[in-house]
Amino acid sequence: MIDYEPFLSRAGESMQGSAIRKMGVVAAGIPDIISFAPGYPDPAVFAWAEFREIALALLGGNDPNALQYGPTRGYPPLVEALSSILGARGIRATRDEVLVTTGSQQGLDLIARILCDPGDVVLVELPTYTGAIAAFKDVQADLVGVRQASDGIDLGDLEAVVARERAAGKRVNCIYVVPNFQNPAGLLIGLEKRRGLLEVASRHNLLIIEDDPYGELYFCDDEAHLTRPVKADDVEGRVVYLSSFSKILAPGFRVAWIAAPAALAAKLDDAKQAADLCTGSLDQRMVFEAWKRGVLAARVPGLRAHYRHKKDTMERAMKASLGNLLTWREPRGGFFLWASLPEHLSGEALLAQATAERVVYVAGAAFFVDGSGQNTIRLSFSAPTPDRIVEGIGRLARVIQRAAAGPSPA
Ligand SMILES: Cc1ncc(COP(=O)(O)O)c(C=O)c1O
Repeated sequence: MIDYEPFLSRAGESMQGSAIRKMGVVAAGIPDIISFAPGYPDPAVFAWAEFREIALALLGGNDPNALQYGPTRGYPPLVEALSSILGARGIRATRDEVLVTTGSQQGLDLIARILCDPGDVVLVELPTYTGAIAAFKDVQADLVGVRQASDGIDLGDLEAVVARERAAGKRVNCIYVVPNFQNPAGLLIGLEKRRGLLEVASRHNLLIIEDDPYGELYFCDDEAHLTRPVKADDVEGRVVYLSSFSKILAPGFRVAWIAAPAALAAKLDDAKQAADLCTGSLDQRMVFEAWKRGVLAARVPGLRAHYRHKKDTMERAMKASLGNLLTWREPRGGFFLWASLPEHLSGEALLAQATAERVVYVAGAAFFVDGSGQNTIRLSFSAPTPDRIVEGIGRLARVIQRAAAGPSPA
């Protein structure tokens, strides 16, 4: 048997699988399991009929390029459409500022590659998205956490952390945030604070990496304006903005995009050439046609109602059986309910018992780069049906009630 360890690069050696994906594997092997682990959209609300019709037309053979390589930047009509989609979100981006990516996950990977050398500090919220942690770790960046307040990132702490890291001789170039219905904490960064973040970034010469897959999925129409991207008010060109069709159309297409200042977009284009040459030509056309035919615009309001109903269902069930044991803030959009267990309980330690009860979630510690958050859990309400949500919360309640009643660890 060959020992492959000595063959690995240092980066390769340190790579680790995501806690969310691991839970997916655990869940897949257990019959009748209810999974609150992955942030999967509900396939019941995919536009199956429209996709069928579009696919049939695209595979009719009239456009030979539908199955050909395409430009790295993206299918030109889709790039044009993205300018318009961004415009509706308050962001002005020309064609040379937009790049189609193979999921936002690839966008994060490309950004990490062009911005970070080993040992550079990347600032992230406590907690933050595990996929971003992985992308930055894979280029051997040092992830340093910034505290969160109820209205998102704590700007005072951000300034203190930048000063501390720079005083220690670290290169601190960028901060990663998910301002809309954050994965995992479900928080919105307040509007005032978004402007404050731009101001702090300007004063300390930081780039802001703004990841926005959930902004369209607000639960209350009156709150649409609260999701205005940080990038919309970026006059200096400090924000690299990512968004995706994964949560609003379907993640299987793997079509997402970055809007960045032209010079950075060009670098990202170079990095993407090495990664995959181009995002799938057929996938991009599927998404473009869905946009052009109005499928996206017609469906998004229904998605908001659909996911709000699931969120309400989960919260109602939790209030009934776990109201005295868990604390959480009501999500105002997105896919996640973030809850704290009693201080002495660990989300990680309870997973084995939860799995035995046939329910899984993601232990919150995976989202903290400083080892904290042991008593937190992330529950995703997006994929299970309302009935399964109620059943799953019932199972979870049994686990948590039992653990809370038991002796606390010394
Ligand atoms: C905050 C955040 N960023 C990026 C992604 C990756 O999305 P995509 O499917 O576009 O790669 C996700 C997926 O869950 C996410 O929650």
